[in-house]
Amino acid sequence: MSEIRTERLLLRSYVPSDAPRVLDLRSRYEVIRWLSDPPYVLMETLDEAEAWIAKESAPNPDPRMRSYAVEVADTGLVVGTVMVAALPRTEPPEYQIGWHLHPDSQGRGYATEAARALLDDTFVRFDGSGPDRPPVDELWCDMFADNDASAAVARRLGFRDTGIRDDPWYDGDGHIFVMTRADWERAGGTQPVG
Ligand SMILES: CC(C)(COP(=O)(O)OP(=O)(O)OC[C@H]1O[C@@H](n2cnc3c(N)ncnc32)[C@H](O)[C@@H]1OP(=O)(O)O)[C@@H](O)C(=O)NCCC(=O)NCCS
Repeated sequence: MSEIRTERLLLRSYVPSDAPRVLDLRSRYEVIRWLSDPPYVLMETLDEAEAWIAKESAPNPDPRMRSYAVEVADTGLVVGTVMVAALPRTEPPEYQIGWHLHPDSQGRGYATEAARALLDDTFVRFDGSGPDRPPVDELWCDMFADNDASAAVARRLGFRDTGIRDDPWYDGDGHIFVMTRADWERAGGTQPVG
């Protein structure tokens, strides 16, 4: 998985030495409550953090699915995660982009900066031009209806708000945003990546 650099951030694979920080982040109710339905499973041990890192950093047979540790380049602090994952119950697969930050690193624009880099890289890299570049034609973003902070990230990134509605992929209602390749191109796209 290639690293991605932005003005302030390095997006890279998780490594075992990130375990204490992962534990600190994933043991927090105020983060985990937004990531899935209850019952919320808060991380409790370093072993669990190491196992999570092993799973998260394992190469996926579908190269479109990527999970990055977001590191502040100047300090080396891991502030959170951005990822592209397949949505459940879809064939052919559809993809969502997601983000979360440690509470000590929110309010600085890191989620928006990291997600913008990952979505640009995704649309540039996965253009359907070869077997190692299978296409991504749209990216979804799905959140709980009351997740105002996450909705603000989606809006800043230029995602189209399709409203709060019966969620096609998860139980209950979701607040669902989308960016198609055409939306992204209309907004200017970005430079090619290697
Ligand atoms: C969703 C979440 C990542 C948003 O975090 P965030 O810090 O608000 O988002 P960003 O990192 O993009 O930061 C934007 C904020 O930083 C501010 N900011 C400060 N310095 C900045 C800078 N140099 N550049 C850009 N923005 C800056 C912005 O003004 C904005 O603040 P505002 O919302 O008060 O206007 C965070 O709330 C979170 O991790 N929540 C728990 C997990 C979660 O809900 N994940 C999403 C599941 S769908």
